[in-house]
Amino acid sequence: MARQMKGPATELIHVGESGLGVPVPLTTPIYETTTFVFESAQEVLDYNEGRSNKYLYSRYANPTLVSVERKLAVLDHAESALVFSSGMGATATILMAHLKAGDEVVCSAAVYGGTLHLLDDLLVRYGIRPRFVSLAELADPDRVLTESTRLLWFESPVNPTMRCVDVRRVADACRTRGVVSVFDNTFASPINQQPLALGVDLAMQSATKYLNGHSDVTGGCVTGAAALVRSVEMTRRLLGTVMDPQAAYALGRGLKTLPLRIARHNANAQAVAEFLAQDRRVSTVCYPGLPSDQDHQIATRQMSGFGGMVTFDLDERYERATRVYDRLKLIKRAASLGGVESLASLPILTSHWGHSDEQLRAAGVTRGMVRISVGLEDAKDLIEDLDQALQNS
Ligand SMILES: Cc1ncc(COP(=O)(O)O)c(C=O)c1O
Repeated sequence: MARQMKGPATELIHVGESGLGVPVPLTTPIYETTTFVFESAQEVLDYNEGRSNKYLYSRYANPTLVSVERKLAVLDHAESALVFSSGMGATATILMAHLKAGDEVVCSAAVYGGTLHLLDDLLVRYGIRPRFVSLAELADPDRVLTESTRLLWFESPVNPTMRCVDVRRVADACRTRGVVSVFDNTFASPINQQPLALGVDLAMQSATKYLNGHSDVTGGCVTGAAALVRSVEMTRRLLGTVMDPQAAYALGRGLKTLPLRIARHNANAQAVAEFLAQDRRVSTVCYPGLPSDQDHQIATRQMSGFGGMVTFDLDERYERATRVYDRLKLIKRAASLGGVESLASLPILTSHWGHSDEQLRAAGVTRGMVRISVGLEDAKDLIEDLDQALQNS
């Protein structure tokens, strides 16, 4: 017998939302929903008391996100992973979760500019005390940690000089003193470098870069031991820095080709770096994969590939750098990195804009530097583009 029709508004809201059978999709669908349905009060109670793996609310957890978080945890051999609305969302949430007023944070001065500003402009207002240390100071980590240091933040290779920090040494010093070490692995990606295996407590990345790899998703992530990640998760609920399910789906798709893409980024960047290193129009090439690079030894110890980022210097001269930059045809002039397409940026106009001469010297950054995020094009076409851009430079 036909079911009695309810009003059209009621029908359109409720019909077709459940009872469609349980298909087994090959890929995890986008769970485009803010909330999840319970059968009974008992089910809600079981959820609240941790006795069920149901979902409650997408700001807390969503299956599309969990699918990606599992991939990221496996990639880093971690107990837990979380994804965020951006790399900065991840950074802010990690710092808020693990710091309170009065705590000192030791931060490498050579980290992403947004991380520096977050600590120095915003978190200081809440009583957190950042102290920035040079790469030379970080080389002797026992000397940079004090009784009140609660957390240490660093990254390697460093933007844009591609200098490398001895990750294990810094992680060990932190572990001995009970300081939480957090490492930004965005430039290398977990395919080339495994910070947790090197002893770091938490590894974060801007998923906007290599993890997604197609320049069309903004996201971030963290991996680490369950207990440390759990407090970040509780803070993510409060700050609402969670990733959107659509973004998580795209990120999960990108991740499936990460090893293939990184192998190609590594090979293309090595070819570009070797071309630039033998070219007399270029004064310096910064790439840890070059045997002549000052950090080649340390990079070889802790990286299984050297990544897709190459920086070169044109006699420290701004006019030469802008001329070459403006002449690029195939390589696009754009900020960001880690996508399939090659991008060029001038650190003096982007990451190091507004820095004093002294700050630039401390960071090892010159006015003549050009940074290339080497993409997945044919290496010979990239080299041809750089060659023509360098003509009469
Ligand atoms: C090394 C590094 N960490 C963190 C971030 C911040 O990531 P997002 O832009 O996804 O917030 C960036 C962005 O450029 C970065 O390069």
